[in-house]
Amino acid sequence: MFIGSVAEDKKTEKRVAITPDLVKKYKSLGLEINLCTDYASHLGIDDKEYISEGANILSNDEVIANSNAIVQMNIPSDENLKKLKKDQILIGVLNPYSNEQKLKDTIAKNINCFSLELLPRITRAQSMDILSSQANLAGYKAVLDSFAYFQKAIPMMMTAAGTISAARVLVVGAGVAGLQAIATAKRMGAIVFATDVRIASKEQVESLGGKFLIVEGSENLETEGGYAKETSDDFKKKQEELIKETLKKIDIVICTALIPGKKAPIIITKEMIQVMPKGSVIYDLAAIQGGNSELTQVDKIIDNNGVKIMGEANILNKLPVSASNLYAKNIFNFVSNLYDKEKKNFQINLEDEIIEKTKVK
Ligand code: NAI
Repeated sequence: MFIGSVAEDKKTEKRVAITPDLVKKYKSLGLEINLCTDYASHLGIDDKEYISEGANILSNDEVIANSNAIVQMNIPSDENLKKLKKDQILIGVLNPYSNEQKLKDTIAKNINCFSLELLPRITRAQSMDILSSQANLAGYKAVLDSFAYFQKAIPMMMTAAGTISAARVLVVGAGVAGLQAIATAKRMGAIVFATDVRIASKEQVESLGGKFLIVEGSENLETEGGYAKETSDDFKKKQEELIKETLKKIDIVICTALIPGKKAPIIITKEMIQVMPKGSVIYDLAAIQGGNSELTQVDKIIDNNGVKIMGEANILNKLPVSASNLYAKNIFNFVSNLYDKEKKNFQINLEDEIIEKTKVK
């Protein structure tokens, strides 16, 4: 059986789904690897590295024609989707909400599509959890980028020439990205505050040395799956007051708040930005889902009254090697669960929650 992967659109996606170190692991499962020419050369990984691990380097069309399963970062181009044949398997972050029609057409040809952002958040799926592996890196990088734009030092410094006070950071949303942002900002010496609608996150924020800001009288807005629920108007009003008051003393805001399948909630309004000290920075990791700040524009740095607001379509393109290393392992773990070593075949066992939930219907 063959696993294939073709080049992503390198203008918008620098990550890859198979790294050289995983070729041997796939082979030990009994799977051969087909990759297209120059697969990861933009990451400084030469085709020869893949070949020396035992992969086959072929043309784009040969990879698609000769692979039982295609693993990608994003949904393939329309041209490549058309080349897929009956009984092939497609695995990636296929974004089924935005690519509904394309995926319907593909499934209609009896191609099994698996989209990994649909993975259940259960213990057995943790090693395959692409949302966690990528959000963790995104939280880290958002802190580095916003600190680079901030024109003051981050840690407190007591020098003979005087004292510099520590920068004050607010993290909005303390999920995977937010918790990594807190840890990174703390490591660099910032004073960190965080808020979330899930009460469970309070303990996690505090264990990282952050101060949790709780919306007075609020109930726990957490679903059974561990995600956030949408907030009521009353909650929004109280949260607004709390954040507006806090922002007067905040230098850097890292926004990470998301609600699955919905537009990101607006938490930092234009009015709130007016009260922030000049020179402050907002990094909006929710930019591509509409943004947590009212003024965020994707891939732009907005200057509003001396406050810089930034957010990118894909911050992981700035850490593509680390992001690919983790993503490729997530994919490998997913494939290992799908492939039956004894029967030497892919087993689409819909009784397995991981397979059932990720299969696009
Ligand atoms: P996410 O990316 O969907 O959202 C980020 C954060 O924003 C969440 O903590 C959410 O509660 C918060 N948020 C949403 N609306 C908000 C608002 N209006 N104001 C303030 N905060 C708001 O979430 P993520 O990071 O993917 O994690 C969600 C949950 O999944 C967590 O409970 C986490 O522990 C759990 N999880 C479980 C895993 C597993 O067991 N396999 C793996 C990873 C995460």
